[in-house]
Amino acid sequence: MADMDDTILETKGLTKEFRGFVAVNGVDLRIKRGEIHALIGPNGAGKTTCFNLLTKFLAPTSGTIKFNGIDITGEKPAQIARRGIIRSFQISAVFPHLTVLENVRIGLQRQTGLSYHFWQSEKRLAALNEPARALLDEVDLGGFADELTVNLPYGRKRALEIATTLAMEPELMLLDEPTQGMGHEDVDRVTRLIKRVSAGRTILMVEHNMNVVSSIADTITVLARGSVLAEGPYSEVSRHPAVMQAYMGTTEGELQGAHA
Ligand SMILES: Nc1ncnc2c1ncn2[C@@H]1O[C@H](COP(=O)(O)OP(=O)(O)O)[C@@H](O)[C@H]1O
Ligand SMILES: [Mg+2]
Repeated sequence: MADMDDTILETKGLTKEFRGFVAVNGVDLRIKRGEIHALIGPNGAGKTTCFNLLTKFLAPTSGTIKFNGIDITGEKPAQIARRGIIRSFQISAVFPHLTVLENVRIGLQRQTGLSYHFWQSEKRLAALNEPARALLDEVDLGGFADELTVNLPYGRKRALEIATTLAMEPELMLLDEPTQGMGHEDVDRVTRLIKRVSAGRTILMVEHNMNVVSSIADTITVLARGSVLAEGPYSEVSRHPAVMQAYMGTTEGELQGAHA
């Protein structure tokens, strides 16, 4: 069925309880292949818990997760990653005292299944320089290749994180608040970057900045208190009364940018 080909990830009744507290409550999520899909909602809505369920950092209390039509609910994080569901981690995931190029090489070593031993021969490592540089160019970090990561400005570190995630060849890339804590310029640059790297991939992102969401998300799912409140393109979701009530505490006007 064309409809199934269209769907890369689908959850049914996804639920997570923490000692009786329902953080994610019967979530049905359908992510279309090739789209940028944003997960939004107030703090505590269950967005990060959803991500943790999708990458199997947490086991669901109930519900199912299908990726490319295959039930992956019972799989382990490493299996999920091998299938191409890759989550971009916070800055801590890159090694601050390695160069930018070395960090991307590590991502490539992981992807190629070479364990990332630092003592690997320089020759084998050198073979990864070319693809690593190509990835850096893709995220506009070509000029920073030999810089120590610790010296990068904040926004560039997030771009590097995206590059190391791309090195894992994600089919579905999960980004948890990629523009968090950034100034305008960095937000704009990273927004363009996400749009650019979305070509040929699918992206699920948690994002608070409504300017970012409205400019690049094809579909938005609004979570509130663990449940899906609304789903659709920005133009629909932003006018949804329940969304305005729950998300913005207002029933008037359009969704305003919720700048953290
Ligand atoms: N490990 C945990 N144990 C207990 N409660 C948790 C745990 N993780 C998250 N929660 C609770 O679940 C709710 C959803 O959290 P979270 O998914 O982090 O929300 P969001 O990312 O949307 O801000 C919150 O009330 C949070 O306190
Ligand atoms: Mg969160």
